[in-house]
Amino acid sequence: MAQLGRREFLATTGAVAATLLAPRSSAASDTRIEILSGESLGRIAPEIHGHFVEHLGGVVYDGVWVGEGSKIPNDGGIRLALIEHLKAIKAPVIRWPGGCFADSYDWRDGIGPRESRPTRTNFWIGVEGITGDPQKFEPNTFGSNEFMRLCRLTGAEPYFAANLRSLPAQEFANWVDYANAPAGSTTLAKRRGGDPFNVRYWGVGNESWGCGGNFTPEEYATEYRRFTAWAPSYRQNDLSFIAAGPGSGDIEWTRGFFETLVARSRGQLRSVWGWALHHYTWNVSQGKTSDWDAGKGDALKFTTEEWYELLREGDKMESLILQHWGVMAETDPTHQVKLAIDEWGAWHRPGSHVAPTHLFGQQSTLRDALLTGLTLDIFNRHPDKVAMANVAQVVNCLHSLFLADGDRFVLTPAYHVFAMHTDHQGADSLRTVIAAPRVSHTRNGQPATFWGLAGSASRKDNRIVLTLVNPALGEPRDAEIVVRGATVREAQWAHLTSTDMAAHNSFEQPRALEPTRGQARITGSTVVHQIPPASVVRIDLII
Ligand code: AHR
Repeated sequence: MAQLGRREFLATTGAVAATLLAPRSSAASDTRIEILSGESLGRIAPEIHGHFVEHLGGVVYDGVWVGEGSKIPNDGGIRLALIEHLKAIKAPVIRWPGGCFADSYDWRDGIGPRESRPTRTNFWIGVEGITGDPQKFEPNTFGSNEFMRLCRLTGAEPYFAANLRSLPAQEFANWVDYANAPAGSTTLAKRRGGDPFNVRYWGVGNESWGCGGNFTPEEYATEYRRFTAWAPSYRQNDLSFIAAGPGSGDIEWTRGFFETLVARSRGQLRSVWGWALHHYTWNVSQGKTSDWDAGKGDALKFTTEEWYELLREGDKMESLILQHWGVMAETDPTHQVKLAIDEWGAWHRPGSHVAPTHLFGQQSTLRDALLTGLTLDIFNRHPDKVAMANVAQVVNCLHSLFLADGDRFVLTPAYHVFAMHTDHQGADSLRTVIAAPRVSHTRNGQPATFWGLAGSASRKDNRIVLTLVNPALGEPRDAEIVVRGATVREAQWAHLTSTDMAAHNSFEQPRALEPTRGQARITGSTVVHQIPPASVVRIDLII
């Protein structure tokens, strides 16, 4: 690769001037990464690795719940393989029961003896392509207690999403009572049985600008104030409410909500813990259309243009965080409210699902792995802003970490990226400056460029974890990595990559794409490492 001048390099991750970067020491390297060990951006909330379970297609019935009498290994009806792997990646929080389903869900349907629970029409019945009975007609076999079992078995915190569109505020308060009242204290606590669930996170509606009620931001803020004016609290600060935020770039939703919320009093800000931004990455049309169906591409069969376009679209997450954060500051200048990005991921055209009942089920390739890596790196770079994020959805759905069908179960590339990132949880995010050549590609028939390498670094004790994404098909990056303010004694790498951009795991070939690992070379005070093309990379630096 030709030597590149400094202006052709991209400095990324944090507002640090590119002049910080010392000249590259070796003619063979084209990339320099500097980690500033003394510059913490804040603690990375473990909750940014959160998950999402909705009663939609094959997520609950098949994915999570197989039933106590099933021949599929389970713990109290919950798929064992799912429990074990969620534990392995330290799943911090799980959002349930939706999504759009949440605003049609009556929590009382999912409690008490299973055999006497009612069957209801599922929110998703009208969507083309849905087949199967639990998918169309919700049996309520999996309710609050079953969901809590999933949380307790995996170690995740529960995040209940309450119905604001079709239940009154009293039912919200009753659900909190059922979940959190001390054992034996109230009628609902007695119905629950056992110890309180201690549910801290409560969503107050979902996408209230759409399926959650078609509200204006002003109407929703008024409803929100009413719903949160009182809910039973059994300990100090035991409830954290998450308000239904915008879809992608809908700045007016954010502005309208916060202005109306504080119109009553500024103290109302204290009723919002998280502002739920949703952003799906779906449009690979390269600017040709913004039609929700026509803009999508296939999960498995895509062009190199669509490879870059998906990453470009996913990369918008960073500007969305900054834009909404800026608008929130207009009414909340001290940023009492943080972002909870409780739905994110790739949303491809239907067709690659592993079973006919899996509405929105899709395969996950190396391209989705890169999208996962670049998104988690963005969250890491904004620890002051992003307090939670929930990938949509954990199994058999959009950006899933697992695919399951009966007794078959496979880890997707997205799972492997979550595993590579797990040690960022709770670590100190470090300002990191990356200078790498931009990638040239074609967009809608025209020459275009995209950043050449991006990532994030964090520190816990004497270990720095650096995670990177190289989006370039066919171009490795020869990197020199230095830690300012510390000496690297040992370095290990893990790569997730393939020469096939559509590489993925299937029931037949479950280990087609998984990380490889090795020891990295240290020359003087510099780690010298080649970042493979089209890869997600983790480098552990022991200082
Ligand atoms: O994740 C699928 C759906 O996408 C959710 O139910 C909804 O909130 C979003 O539009």
